[in-house]
Amino acid sequence: MINLASLFGKASPPLAGLDISTSGVRLVELADAGKGELRLERYAAEPLPRGAVVDGNIENIDQVSDAVRRVWKKSGTRARLVALGMPPAAVITKKIILPAGLSEDQLEVQVESEASQYIPFALDEVSLDFDVIGAAPNSSEDMEVMLAAARREKVEDRVAIAEAAGLTATVMDIESYAARSALERAASAKPGQITALFQLGAQATHMSVLIDGDSVYEREQPFGGTQLTQDIVRAYGLSFEEAEARKKSGDLPENYRADLLTPFLENAALEVTRAIQFFYTSTPYTRIDQLYLAGGCALVPGLVDIIAGRTRIPTAQVTPFQGMQLGAGVREQQLRQEGAAYLVACGLAMRRFG
Ligand SMILES: Nc1ncnc2c1ncn2[C@@H]1O[C@H](COP(=O)(O)OP(=O)(O)O)[C@@H](O)[C@H]1O
Ligand SMILES: [Mg+2]
Repeated sequence: MINLASLFGKASPPLAGLDISTSGVRLVELADAGKGELRLERYAAEPLPRGAVVDGNIENIDQVSDAVRRVWKKSGTRARLVALGMPPAAVITKKIILPAGLSEDQLEVQVESEASQYIPFALDEVSLDFDVIGAAPNSSEDMEVMLAAARREKVEDRVAIAEAAGLTATVMDIESYAARSALERAASAKPGQITALFQLGAQATHMSVLIDGDSVYEREQPFGGTQLTQDIVRAYGLSFEEAEARKKSGDLPENYRADLLTPFLENAALEVTRAIQFFYTSTPYTRIDQLYLAGGCALVPGLVDIIAGRTRIPTAQVTPFQGMQLGAGVREQQLRQEGAAYLVACGLAMRRFG
C-alpha cells in the first residue's frame, strides 16, 4: 500500500507547517514552550505568480519550489522537515466499519478493498491512508476506520516541491483538517456549540460546520478575493500583481471604497448568508452559534462587520496564534493583522506535536 506520507501519523521535531495556496506559500514554525503551551517561533509568506497553482493543482513546480525556497529563507527557520496540506477537494475521506481485532496486514487488505468501492479511479493511481478511530458506535465487534485517498500525482507534486526546495515532507494532511485543529486550539467552544468556519481564499470559499470537534458539514463555493483584485485591475488599469499589492496596502484612489470595496463586501456577505441558508435547508440543523472567518480574503477591511450584520450571528476573524508565546522575531501588531490568513499553516505546524 502506498502511504499518503502518514496522513494521520505523528511527526518528529523540528518540523514547519507549509501551506501551498493559489495566491502564495506560507510557513509557520511552532515550538513547545512547556506546560502545554506553544510558542510561535516564526512565520512568513511569499506570493506566487498567477497560474502557478490553480484549483489546488500545481501547474508550475519550479515557480512553486522557488517560492518555497524564498519563504523558508525569509522565515529564518532551520527546520528541514515540513508538513504539507492537500486541498480538501483533492482528497476523498470516508468513515468505514470493519471487524475489530484485524491484524495490520488484514486491515490493509480490507481497507484497499473497501477503498476501491469509493474511489473513482484506479487504486494504483491513488495514495491511500487510513486511521483507526475507535470502536464502532453500534457494535463492540466492529471498529470505525477513516479512509483518506488522493490522486497519487497530486501528492507527489507536493512532495517534489518540498524536495526541490531542499526540504522533506514528512506529514501530508488535509487543509480543512489542519484548519480545524488550529481553530479548536485557538477558540474553545462550549459543548454542543455549532461553529461555522468560512475560509475565504483567492478563488474559493470553504465552509465547515463543527460541533464538539466533529465536522458535520463541508462545502466549497467559487468565491474569493481574486474577484476584488480583478475589479481593481479593470478600474485602474493595473497589472494583477500590482492590484494584489495595492489591495493589501490600501493604496488606491478615493473612489475605491465606494465603487469597488463596498460592492465586494455586499457580495461576500450575500455568498455567506446563502451558504448558511443552504446549510439549514440541506441538514437538520437550524442555528449557528458562532461564525469564524479565516483565509487571506478574511483580512479585507469591513468583512467581519458586514457578515455579522447580515447573518446576525456573532462573527470574528480567527486568531490562530491566540494564547501562544511569541518568538523574538515575531511582530505582534503585524501578526494581529494577518493571523487569520495563517490558519492552515498553523494547523500544519501543530503536527509537530502529534
Ligand atoms: N491583507 C489583505 N487584504 C485583503 N486581501 C488579502 C490580504 N491578504 C491576502 N488577501 C487576499 O486573500 C486571497 C488569498 O487568500 P488565501 O487564503 O491565501 O487563498 P488561497 O488559499 O485560495 O490561495 C487573495 O485574493 C488575496 O488578495
Ligand atoms: Mg489556502
